[in-house]
Amino acid sequence: MGEPRVSAIVLAAGSGSRLGTGAPKALLAVGGVPMVVRAVRSVAVLATEVVVAAPAGSEERVRDSLVSAGEVRIVTGGPTRQASVRAALEAVSLGCDVIVVHDAARPFATTELTATVISVVVGGDEGAVPVVAIPDTVKRVRGGQVVATEDRSELGLAQTPQAFRASVLREAHARAEAAGLDLTDDAALVEWAGHRVAVVPGEPGNFKITTVADLERAGTHG
Ligand code: CTP
Ligand code: MG
Repeated sequence: MGEPRVSAIVLAAGSGSRLGTGAPKALLAVGGVPMVVRAVRSVAVLATEVVVAAPAGSEERVRDSLVSAGEVRIVTGGPTRQASVRAALEAVSLGCDVIVVHDAARPFATTELTATVISVVVGGDEGAVPVVAIPDTVKRVRGGQVVATEDRSELGLAQTPQAFRASVLREAHARAEAAGLDLTDDAALVEWAGHRVAVVPGEPGNFKITTVADLERAGTHG
């Protein structure tokens, strides 16, 4: 793949129901900077275009927050993360080779991590996902009882940014939609569609803001 064209999708269309602040989660500031702005900054320098999925009704607020972040295209997200990716995919140039997908809910991903997942796909893999190890012992629980203790050496936690060969990501989304399947990340869709996803080391600091405790952790994050 010579001179690959990279497009980036930033997902900011969630409501943040577990955070429960009422406002769109992606517009909340972490260290004085809205999460969506931080997420766009982690991908924008490496992409020829950035498409941001915003919550229906908050498109202008998201656009306003991003005035200093360079040129971005705003689309209206869907009812699930996967639907928001699909809406953003519609706005991505047909000529791109690699698509990076990143969550606005991860304001601390480094540009280096984005560069790493892109380089793995440029190197020939169909997809790349950052994964971090699970530090705790993992129990399988059913009905309040432990039914198994899992071998955590083969388990990991997926992060974004994730990168994919553009044709592979588009095909996986089209097939999942036709099958009525809705999954929580793009790597899962691409795996389900029968493609190989390479793992790169995730970043311990690249945690997702889901709850108030995460927001508090973000406030003290260096
Ligand atoms: N997302 C999206 N469109 C949706 C749902 C989620 O673009 N319909 C995005 C969120 O904006 C977030 C990422 O997907 O950047 C990961 O989702 P999550 O952390 O679950 O965020 P929310 O869905 O907003 O939070 P909650 O599940 O607590 O409502
Ligand atoms: Mg959600």
